[in-house]
Amino acid sequence: MPFGRAGRLKVVRPALSLIFIVSLLYLYRRSAAPLTTWEATVPLQERQATLWQNLLPLLEDHAPLCSPPSRRDSSGAIPYSAIQASPRPDLIVQPEVYQQPMQEAHDGFVAAVQTSTTLKSPHIVGTSGIVSSAGKSYLPVFVASLRMLRRTGSTLPVELFVKDESEYEKKICEEVLPSLNARCLVLSDILNNQRDSSVEIAHYQIKIFAVLFSSFEKVIWIDSDCFPLHDPAELLTADPFASTGLVTFPDFWASTASPLYFNISRQELPPMSLRASSETGVFLISKRSHFRTLLLAAYYNYYGPSYYFMLLSQGAPGEGDKETFIHAASAMNEKFYTVSEPVKPIGHPKTTQDKISGSAMVQSDPVADYKLTSQNKWRVKDSSVAKAPRAFFIHAHYPKFNPAEHVFGNTWETAPTLKPDGSDGRAWIVAEETLRRFGYDAEKAYWEEIKWVSCNLEDAFESWKRKSGICARVQKYWQTVFAEPHDDDPQFTDD
Ligand SMILES: *[C@@H]1O[C@H](CO)[C@@H](O)[C@H](O)[C@H]1NC(C)=O
Repeated sequence: MPFGRAGRLKVVRPALSLIFIVSLLYLYRRSAAPLTTWEATVPLQERQATLWQNLLPLLEDHAPLCSPPSRRDSSGAIPYSAIQASPRPDLIVQPEVYQQPMQEAHDGFVAAVQTSTTLKSPHIVGTSGIVSSAGKSYLPVFVASLRMLRRTGSTLPVELFVKDESEYEKKICEEVLPSLNARCLVLSDILNNQRDSSVEIAHYQIKIFAVLFSSFEKVIWIDSDCFPLHDPAELLTADPFASTGLVTFPDFWASTASPLYFNISRQELPPMSLRASSETGVFLISKRSHFRTLLLAAYYNYYGPSYYFMLLSQGAPGEGDKETFIHAASAMNEKFYTVSEPVKPIGHPKTTQDKISGSAMVQSDPVADYKLTSQNKWRVKDSSVAKAPRAFFIHAHYPKFNPAEHVFGNTWETAPTLKPDGSDGRAWIVAEETLRRFGYDAEKAYWEEIKWVSCNLEDAFESWKRKSGICARVQKYWQTVFAEPHDDDPQFTDD
């Protein structure tokens, strides 16, 4: 029987009250965060296109009108010390030639960003999520990291940026990722809308543009070879992120930006002991509070390969986009927190005592780190003042843990899966005190996910299509190393 009048009313009344409640919530949110209805009425793709339409001319209009600077030497790998400020490398040849034209361009861009009424972040107010990028042989590594994220119980949505159509893998993007609350976005779809760019966006510049164009307000950037040990959503609601809106993690090395850079950006020259350089496998940023920081970072990246990457690192390890975020925030006078607990390598012992052949880096819980530093307890100056914070992120970068590539065998310097006698063994056995901060056997968990990816998606990835025996190889490794406990397994807690 079709709905009678009474039946329809029964449906209509709750529906009306639902609409009423939703409108109230909507009004409440609006008053909490006054914004235009832009995000509500214009689709994401269009908001992204509009941003690029307005940003690209600003980038082009404020090109440095000088040849790219050169340096006479490399600052090399200077270990960071919070206690002893080594002299800042000053290696640019004839800095006076570049100061005025680069400063003029920098001033112009900053002023344009500060006064612009057309530049708008495309994010949806109130959203949080994870942004990453991966393509080709990084894609299987990303899926294993994504499954590690889900193991923590995290339900944060994930946006994966691929460089262009050639990196868009249908099965992964349309079946595998959506089942894990992740989706693919193609960066060139946004950037190629504007053809008059003089600069091609290369692989290492993807990070800044992915963050900028993602739909999330609060972004946790995570490299494809990096995963959390705990649900990272909890970092977004607590300090230091809640009060600053930008949190970064340290690299092993000193920050070696050139004195010329500080002149160009009109900043005081900080002592080398102030903070380490950034290791940007992970960082947290709010686009509500730090949209301008991201725009200046985009400028540093746009002119990165020719100008800013070198000025910000002067040849230090990993020269590239890593230094652009903190320096942009500092130049824009926006807040940030740099985690002080040093990054730690994990891997195999080197034959020389106490040295580690590292295949991964461990970053600490920023909330715990902030609790210590806000009580003026600086473990980075004196590690005896408090216990180390728990480990939070593992960046398994050297080599990538792709079972079809260098992770097996001895073709890679760190040969992470081989024992000294050549048999299969764990990758992460030292430093013991770092592993004890894990809380659980994350390496075993990681290999469980690598096994899942290898055995369920062996035929799915483009880069694995011409390879065979990936699942079988991982199963054999798993059987030897993780299926049963071993006497020499590391400890993952203090007790
Ligand atoms: C930076 O500016 C100061 C003051 O104008 C000048 O003395 C110094 O030589 C400049 N340094 C560099 C590396 O350009």
